[in-house]
Amino acid sequence: MRSSPLLPRTSVAITLSFIAFASAQSIPGASLFSGNGAPGAGAYQLVDAYEPSIFFDKFNFYSSYDPTNGHVQYVNESIAVQNGYATSGATANISVDTTNIWPNGGPGRPAVRLISDNTYTHGLFILDLVHMPWGCGTWPAYWLLGPNWPYDGEVDIIEGVNTGQLNSVSMHTNAGCIIAGSGQTATFETSNCDEAANDNSGCGSLLNDTSTPGNYGSELNTQGGGVYATEWTSDYIKTWYFPRGRIPPSITSGAPNISTFGIPAVNAQGGCVIDSHFSNMSIIINTDFCGNWAGNVYDQFPECPQTAGADSWDSCVDFVGNNPSSFVEAYWEINSIRVYQMPPGAVPSSSGHGSLIVKSVLGTI
Ligand SMILES: *[C@@H]1O[C@H](CO)[C@@H](O)[C@H](O)[C@H]1NC(C)=O
Ligand SMILES: *[C@@H]1O[C@H](CO)[C@@H](O)[C@H](O)[C@H]1NC(C)=O
Ligand SMILES: *[C@@H]1O[C@H](CO)[C@@H](O)[C@H](O)[C@H]1NC(C)=O
Ligand SMILES: *[C@@H]1O[C@H](CO)[C@@H](O)[C@H](O)[C@H]1NC(C)=O
Ligand SMILES: *[C@@H]1O[C@H](CO)[C@@H](O)[C@H](O)[C@H]1NC(C)=O
Repeated sequence: MRSSPLLPRTSVAITLSFIAFASAQSIPGASLFSGNGAPGAGAYQLVDAYEPSIFFDKFNFYSSYDPTNGHVQYVNESIAVQNGYATSGATANISVDTTNIWPNGGPGRPAVRLISDNTYTHGLFILDLVHMPWGCGTWPAYWLLGPNWPYDGEVDIIEGVNTGQLNSVSMHTNAGCIIAGSGQTATFETSNCDEAANDNSGCGSLLNDTSTPGNYGSELNTQGGGVYATEWTSDYIKTWYFPRGRIPPSITSGAPNISTFGIPAVNAQGGCVIDSHFSNMSIIINTDFCGNWAGNVYDQFPECPQTAGADSWDSCVDFVGNNPSSFVEAYWEINSIRVYQMPPGAVPSSSGHGSLIVKSVLGTI
């Protein structure tokens, strides 16, 4: 199962860049938060917060075709809300259709792909999640994406497929970004982030279940989730995972202090000028089914039902299409996403519906 964790997603991702540009960067009233990139330049301050009560107001519901060829229909906001795929209360829940059959050859299973209106350069992104999608046919992802792929970068913070239990963290760029893979607890897999190299495997690592227990899937869900923290500076992009019971007090108290976080799960730095490869990134959360990764490796997961005589891809689509009740676990439940930056920063590029948050933060910096 671990033999090809970072399977090529090939050039279809080029389409992704256009979509991101069209749906994120052109949103009227969206803000670009640009923080200080020098590591340790100052204390981190909250600049943007995705709390459950306003969670879905801060995202665009992407509802066009899936650029990675999944058996999925990404629905718009009204369909998502009507069907209960986007609900908020004490938490924000993002789920999928668990009642209808969507046969192979027709439209895929309805699901949600959220792209944040606001964009960011540098910062500390803290996702507190309770539950994530998991199971045969699923391909969930929580990631950052710049407007002009691959030039403005892609950082995949949570990503995996089917019944895998280890999170894959990877980055995709244009040529000239190489990661050393030292100073981290995750298992280093590939060093060259260039999308044109190695069939766009990217530069990636697989989290270690001993150092970061329950970092993905059902094991993450069983322990009540935890926190993924990603620090993006001019020198590196580091990601930590803290299981629910081991979240650093500085995070819980809202004053995150990197020096208390310990060795990161992933330490992305080396031969890469970070500021030349990553900028103006949106936050994306989606649940895909089958497609270029989950579908291609589906037959490597013996617990996932195979269709007699069909290949991996079609077996995946058959399972996803025919078994709605198998997707009751395919939901994200999120306490919050909070974005912190070091001053000077948090200068919005325009005002708009994010301006209340922007103004209150600017007052403190
Ligand atoms: C949402 O999608 C549905 C189904 O495709 C469509 O009928 C409806 O017009 C869409 N709503 C908006 C606001 O785009
Ligand atoms: C989110 O989903 C979980 C599990 O189904 C449920 O317990 C919780 O009440 C849901 N929260 C909201 C706000 O829908
Ligand atoms: C995971 O970490 C443990 C403890 O540091 C180590 O013994 C083990 O070899 C690591 N596993 C992998 C696959 O790197
Ligand atoms: C951050 O933690 C380090 C190590 O514990 C400590 O020396 C430093 O004072 C802390 N910084 C703040 C702003 O609390
Ligand atoms: C980032 O956004 C700002 C403000 O819209 C813009 O001036 C700048 O050119 C963008 N940078 C990139 C690399 O797209």
